[in-house]
Amino acid sequence: MEPLIAALTALLGPKHVIVDPPDLAGLARDGRGAFGRPLCAVRPATAALVADALRLCGDFSAVAVPRGAGTGLSGGGCADDSGSQVVILTDGLGGAIEIDAANRTATVGAGVRLSALNAAARDHGLFLPIDLGADPSIGGMIATNTGGARLLLHGDMRRHVRAIEVVLNDGEIVQLGSPLWKDNSALDLKQMFIGAGGTTGIVTGATIALTPLPRHQVTAMLALADARSAVDLLLSAESHFGTLLTAFEGMSMAAVQAALDHVPGLASPFPHAQPGYVAMLELSGNAVCDTATLETALAEWCAPFLQEEGPVIDAVVDSGGRHWAVRHAITEGIRSRGSVIACDIAVRRGDIMACRAHLLTEVAARWPDLAVHDFGHIGDGGLHFNLVWPHQLGAAPTGLAEAVRTCVFDIVVRHYGGSFSAEHGVGPRNIDHYRRLVPTSIQTLSTRITDQFSAPNAILEQG
Ligand code: LAC
Ligand code: ZN
Repeated sequence: MEPLIAALTALLGPKHVIVDPPDLAGLARDGRGAFGRPLCAVRPATAALVADALRLCGDFSAVAVPRGAGTGLSGGGCADDSGSQVVILTDGLGGAIEIDAANRTATVGAGVRLSALNAAARDHGLFLPIDLGADPSIGGMIATNTGGARLLLHGDMRRHVRAIEVVLNDGEIVQLGSPLWKDNSALDLKQMFIGAGGTTGIVTGATIALTPLPRHQVTAMLALADARSAVDLLLSAESHFGTLLTAFEGMSMAAVQAALDHVPGLASPFPHAQPGYVAMLELSGNAVCDTATLETALAEWCAPFLQEEGPVIDAVVDSGGRHWAVRHAITEGIRSRGSVIACDIAVRRGDIMACRAHLLTEVAARWPDLAVHDFGHIGDGGLHFNLVWPHQLGAAPTGLAEAVRTCVFDIVVRHYGGSFSAEHGVGPRNIDHYRRLVPTSIQTLSTRITDQFSAPNAILEQG
């Protein structure tokens, strides 16, 4: 494939074509670890150069894999291990962040990070209310339809994307959607590119809807005697607080402990209690609902559940971001404990604790050495049912991860009508399960649609 590298170098210049093995190794990993072996990586600075690079890949029948910030968890931004795929980095697609404060939108290049967008929006009292531990690029968030911890109120990326600029597989650049709040003058084709993992085209820019920044945010960590009460507490909090409730998360104590052990200085929310499970909720308010009002409201709501024999054995309120620091340290904390087998699942909210109990029983019976470290978004039915093969036991047995994931996904999909890919994208890590578990009729229809976007030679990979 030397001629393809030479052609890409002629197009972009040697600085923007990465071939050195150590640099490529850094691009052959994502938030979950090492994955694949790219032929090379390219960093185009404009949509037109993305289009040219894609055309060259097509000429050489090479698969192109778009990659944002590399924070994904399904391998979507990584080449496979054939050594023949070209990674197209979108982090060169930055440029100015244009905020239209009256319209509450931001227009950005796909390479702009969530943190940079929010820093610019903050000056206008606005933000993109998708909350994550990582700092992904906007293009990656669109390609994976990121959800995050505030999906309960604010929804996923799909709800926030007003318009995109996208390079199709044959190199054509199209603009889809507009900054308008409502527009039904044509088919909403941009949806074909949101959550599509790069299979239909490479998103190079977007106009994103913003939300007024709440002035006050208060969280409560609830130590529960038993995880099974979490959904009743969610329903009570929803009816009590309405749209003030912006997150309702759940965490096993193993997951909390992994976060506490991993990050020096992170304080345990419950130094004196031994919870069976931890729930965390967030209320967001403005000038009318200030911090003191929210704290009082939370304490009053919680009081009946804190009675003797009640479901809550301890409750801690905070407005300093300390609870989110624990919550967002969980993924890293779990990784430091061993080899992680991750299952990003979703079920109907009412089924989440029954499904969790079912999975715990099954895993304990079949793989007693695995340590379950689950956590997730109880508010939207999402559960990161993650398991750890501890470092102390040495390398995980070959085939273990796939056997466990197959078992978990079968229960989730076949027994509960749930999803094996809730918010991290399908990606190469889940593609076999897509083929196994998504009805053939849907796969066939999806292929007919993605085929419409494919040039004969240029092949975009799940990214
Ligand atoms: C989270 C990521 C793993 O919920 O989705 O922390
Ligand atoms: Zn999540």
